[in-house]
Amino acid sequence: MAARRIIIDTDPGQDDAVAILLALASPEEIEVLGITAVAGNVPLALTARNARIVCELAGRPDMRVFAGCDRPLKRPLVTAEHVHGKTGLDGPVLPDPQMPLQEGHAVDFLIDTLRAEPAGTVTLCPLGPLTNIATAFERAPDIKERVQQIVLMGGAYFEVGNITPAAEFNIYVDPHAADIVFKSGVPLVVMPLDVTHKALVTPPRNDAFRALGTPVGDAVAEMTDFFERFDKEKYGSSGAPLHDPCVTAYLIRPELFRGRHINVEIETTSDLTLGMTVADWWGVTDRAANALFVGDLDADGFFALLTERLARL
Ligand code: BDR
Ligand code: CA
Repeated sequence: MAARRIIIDTDPGQDDAVAILLALASPEEIEVLGITAVAGNVPLALTARNARIVCELAGRPDMRVFAGCDRPLKRPLVTAEHVHGKTGLDGPVLPDPQMPLQEGHAVDFLIDTLRAEPAGTVTLCPLGPLTNIATAFERAPDIKERVQQIVLMGGAYFEVGNITPAAEFNIYVDPHAADIVFKSGVPLVVMPLDVTHKALVTPPRNDAFRALGTPVGDAVAEMTDFFERFDKEKYGSSGAPLHDPCVTAYLIRPELFRGRHINVEIETTSDLTLGMTVADWWGVTDRAANALFVGDLDADGFFALLTERLARL
């Protein structure tokens, strides 16, 4: 089968970094057309820098990286240094990137690429707040019907919130952008906390990364060493959740994941539950399904895939 052609929209973030590494290690299944950075875990200047650090770590200084929106559509930016550290990529010591940031805005790259490529052949993979994608859809509504699929990390139903009691970080940071994307009519696959909290880097799994004995294996192990402290303290979990790699793993081995085709709406007005993903998991409304909302994964299969692919870099 031909490789899926994708654009990764991201706010690295250690788990974003692993998602990007997995994609770049999997050319048979995934062709990355470009990477668009957005403000999220840390401000835009850092996410655009971190995306390039990760490409260089993967041996892909030729990858095109574009900077996008530096703030959410209607709200001030909320960041997550408390999870990811001051740089967003704390943990390993990695060199400053030498590869250039592309000229031009990420939103223009999204629009131009979707218009230039045959309709239905480009998949968008958002790993952060949905500001770049929503801005592109608002500015160029014609591109919506040209998107093959959006496979994104965001939201939660059973796990509810991680940044507020009701909301997951990516959706909370820009709920208005999420609302535009969830109402866009583009086929959605959603990786909420319900599944990503089952993709835990337990000590043996991190040992397996380290045992690769490569700069990539060491960097990934050191990244998870750093950001696992947050979830261990908060949830008492046995390791760091690899949220964003669920997106790129789904493109390679969709059979590792299980979910339901359901309706998902975004709360944009309530102060109390802003950014909540109201997921009709139990089918109690007649609202039309707009997403495959994933709830479970084969975690051992996921980590076997990840370790095997990271070994290639
Ligand atoms: C999401 O928020 C970020 O901190 C992670 O990179 C992930 O995309 C999890 O809520
Ligand atoms: Ca992210």
